[in-house]
Amino acid sequence: MAKPYVFITMQIPKEIVALLEDVAHVGMWEADTPCPRDKLLEEAAKADALFTMVVDRIDQEVLKRGQNLKIVANMAVGYDNIDVETAKHLGIMVSNTPDVLTEATADLTFALLMATARRVVEASQAVYEGRWQSWSPMFMAGQDVYGKTLGIVGMGRIGEAVARRARGFDMDILYHNRKPKTEAEEKLGATYCSFEDLLQKADFIVALTPLTDQTRHLFGRREFELMKKTAIFINVSRGPVVDEEALYHALKEKQIWAAGLDVFHQEPVPTDHPLLTLPNVVPLPHIGSASISARMAMARLAAENIVLALTGKKPKTLISE
Ligand code: DGY
Repeated sequence: MAKPYVFITMQIPKEIVALLEDVAHVGMWEADTPCPRDKLLEEAAKADALFTMVVDRIDQEVLKRGQNLKIVANMAVGYDNIDVETAKHLGIMVSNTPDVLTEATADLTFALLMATARRVVEASQAVYEGRWQSWSPMFMAGQDVYGKTLGIVGMGRIGEAVARRARGFDMDILYHNRKPKTEAEEKLGATYCSFEDLLQKADFIVALTPLTDQTRHLFGRREFELMKKTAIFINVSRGPVVDEEALYHALKEKQIWAAGLDVFHQEPVPTDHPLLTLPNVVPLPHIGSASISARMAMARLAAENIVLALTGKKPKTLISE
C-alpha cells in the first residue's frame, strides 16, 4: 500500500519530522513564516494529515479540499484557528497539544505579570537609553505582586498552574469560569466569584480563557471601567478576547495601571499599533508556551497524534473525531 502523505505547515525540528517519516511521506513549508494560503490549499488536497500551527486558518475551504484528510493535528492547545464543526461534519479528526505546555505557559504568564507590575522592560530600556541618572526614591517604582489579589478568568489547566505559582507569592486567588471548579478551590484555595466581582476586586486580572463566540471582546470598555485604577491586565489567551481600542483608552486615561500582552488581534502586532505607544504596556510576541522543552513536547505530541491516526489507532489528544 502506498504511504500516506503528511504536510507540515511550518519548519519543525528534524527529529520530529523523522517520527512522521517512519509512516508517511512528508512535505513541509520550510520556513518560520506562515505557509501561503494557495500552498496550504494545494497541500490540503493531497494530504492524509496536516500538521498545523495557530497561524494557519483551517477553515471550510481548506477542509473541503482534503479529500483524503484524516486528521488535522494542531501544534497548540488552542484551536480557534480550526473550523472544528466542519471537520467533524467531514469526518476529519482534530487534535491539539494540551498538558505538555501548561507549566511553560504558566511560567510566562507569571513572568509577564511580574515584568508589568515592576516595569521591568521600561526600566531596562531606561538603562539602554541613558535615562538612569541616579537612584532616586520613586524612579521606576511599580506595583507589588506579593500579597495582592489575583483574578483568573478561565480556570483551566494553565489557570491552575498560574494559581499554584501565586500561592508562593501569598496572593489571594479569585477565579471566574462558566461553572465553579470545586477541586481547584480545594487544591488551590481559589475562590469562585462573578465576572464583575472579579474585575472589581482583583489587582491582577489574567485572561486565560479560550477564544469562542462567547469570549470574543469579553474585556471591553465596561469591563476596564470596573477594574481598579491600580489594576494590571494580563492577556495570555488570544488577542480577540479583548477590545483593543477599549484597552488602549483605559490605559491612556489611566483607568487601569498597566497591561501585559502576549497576544494581539493581529499577529505580528503592527509596530505602529497604538498600544505599542504606551509605556505601561509590556508586549510579547505570543511566546506563552515557548520554552524549548514545551515546544519540543508539543511538536512530538502533534506528530504522535498523526502517526496514531494514520496507523488506525486513536490519537492521544483529540478535540473532535
Ligand atoms: C497555544 O498552544 O494555544 C498557544 O497559543 C500557542 O503556543
